[in-house]
Amino acid sequence: MTLSALPPSSGLAAGERRCDERRIAEMLDAIAAISDAGEGINRIAYTATERRAHALVAGWLRDLGARVSVDAVGNTLAEFAGTDPTLGALGTGSHLDSVPEGGAFDGVAGVVAAIEVMRTLAEDGRRLRHPLRVIAFAAEEGARFGQACLGSKAAAGLLGTADAHELRDLDGISLADAMSGVGFDPERMGDAAWDPREWSAFVELHIEQGRVLETEAIGIGIVDVISGSTRLRMDLAGRPSHTGGTPMDLRADALAAAAEVVLLAERLANDARHRGTRATVGQLTVKPNAVTTIPGHVRLTVDVRDVDSDRQRETARDIVREASDVCARRGIGMTMRVIGDISPVVLPVRLRDITIRAAAALGRPYRVLVSGASHDAQMINDIIPSAMIFVPSRNGISHDCAEWTSSSQIADGADVLRASLELLDRER
Ligand code: HGY
Ligand code: MN
Ligand code: MN
Repeated sequence: MTLSALPPSSGLAAGERRCDERRIAEMLDAIAAISDAGEGINRIAYTATERRAHALVAGWLRDLGARVSVDAVGNTLAEFAGTDPTLGALGTGSHLDSVPEGGAFDGVAGVVAAIEVMRTLAEDGRRLRHPLRVIAFAAEEGARFGQACLGSKAAAGLLGTADAHELRDLDGISLADAMSGVGFDPERMGDAAWDPREWSAFVELHIEQGRVLETEAIGIGIVDVISGSTRLRMDLAGRPSHTGGTPMDLRADALAAAAEVVLLAERLANDARHRGTRATVGQLTVKPNAVTTIPGHVRLTVDVRDVDSDRQRETARDIVREASDVCARRGIGMTMRVIGDISPVVLPVRLRDITIRAAAALGRPYRVLVSGASHDAQMINDIIPSAMIFVPSRNGISHDCAEWTSSSQIADGADVLRASLELLDRER
């Protein structure tokens, strides 16, 4: 594959750093300061705190001369005009919400990288042919409602009002009520769907949330496959009773059954047949959760991830089958709902190769790798060809306050993001 150089007018040269790590650090700090109380970052989907982060980012983009709007589900979109308005927009961005007690870089790195790219284009007086759109997606994390990528799903036309009334958080608040609570009308979700004819391509920069890049001391990852996820919610109904007065042989202990489910999910993901699948019980609530009462009810979620759709769904089926055997043996009632089911996505080779050529033209070492996490680009790719650029995660940690990526690593990724947009501008 000949690695054609970047457009001469791009102002980018091999070995040179164009995006500014100091400015990136300042934006990261400013967004990290917008968090609810608690360990790490708490900027949960459809809370006033998430909206404050969107407002801050919208102000930065307006100051750069973009036309900024917020759509019917809370995605913030900023358009920078191109020289040829007949061309579809080149989009880039990520999300601003976090998991509970999360990190300061998941999603945010892609938004600040996109803003820094727009700033350097403005400084260089560069106006691309294609319109450029920076997007901060709403509600990417599945932590609250069980389903991930709600804002980008709505943009891709994959989520509607019926879902908003269905999905509920642990407090029983529906997605619809949470949206209304921060000023969005769930009855208008359909308005957020993008028209694919208005777009040309989408590129998302994100932290790797794994340790491949750090282990191999490579600064740039180019994603070829984004894992799918099957999310199950199980309700186990036992018999609450006195821990002192109830002999062991007369119990129906919902938590003891749940403990077996946690371990069988782990065992199944580890067995050779399912090699490569990841299965996790991340959420478990016990009722009445009292020292002296045998747990009568447990609600748990199982998150099954894989790059192989068949193996992903087979593992989920095996977990459900074995969990129901455990419950039958223990005299526990079990109901199960699939609360999310996303297929793995192979990102388009042509776009992937453009991001590879961009990294190579800048002389940045890169490697192609799989994404274990799901991303907004996975949904957007349903309607617009998409690509992903990864930057390293220290110790591979994410979804925790120990999550860390240096501003220098994000600036390197932002340079490759800009170079990718420059190549797309010339070639699409
Ligand atoms: O859960 C995920 O994979 C992503 O962080 N939403
Ligand atoms: Mn993310
Ligand atoms: Mn995440």
